[in-house]
Amino acid sequence: MVRVLFVCLGNICRSPMAEAIFTHHVAEAGLGDEVALDSAGTGSWHAGEEPHPGTRQALKRRGITFAHIARAVTADDFVSQDHLVAMDAANRADLLRLGCDPARVSMLLDYVPGMAGEDVPDPYYTGDFEHCYHLVDAGCRALLQRIRAHHAL
Ligand code: 4NP
Repeated sequence: MVRVLFVCLGNICRSPMAEAIFTHHVAEAGLGDEVALDSAGTGSWHAGEEPHPGTRQALKRRGITFAHIARAVTADDFVSQDHLVAMDAANRADLLRLGCDPARVSMLLDYVPGMAGEDVPDPYYTGDFEHCYHLVDAGCRALLQRIRAHHAL
């Protein structure tokens, strides 16, 4: 079982969107028993909340289901998760500051050719959940390819 945790700041906009989209692609690929998905925030302000209405709408529009309640990352995640996939450089820096092994940390757009090192802009501030959806979907498709190759799935 490969364990992937998507990480953003609040865990209500980008990372639950990534979790839902990735879960959708994993199921379509018939790999639901091989890959475990979750998401978390580096902050805990929104713990216990459903995804942001903008994220819910972007997912519903595509018929992608979701069932996540926001939570903060824990030290246990740094041991139990194989890949911690940050949405932006600040999330990545926070994970490293909290003690996560750098070898397990990446950024979602690192997997998209030509976009390595780029952030997924935070729609909580930009309001652009559609742009976010397209970036996250591109990242998730590329990440799944990488995981399939790396773990021989
Ligand atoms: P997210 O967006 O990190 O993509 O979930 C945010 C959600 C909430 C806040 C910031 C970003 N906030 O400051 O409450």
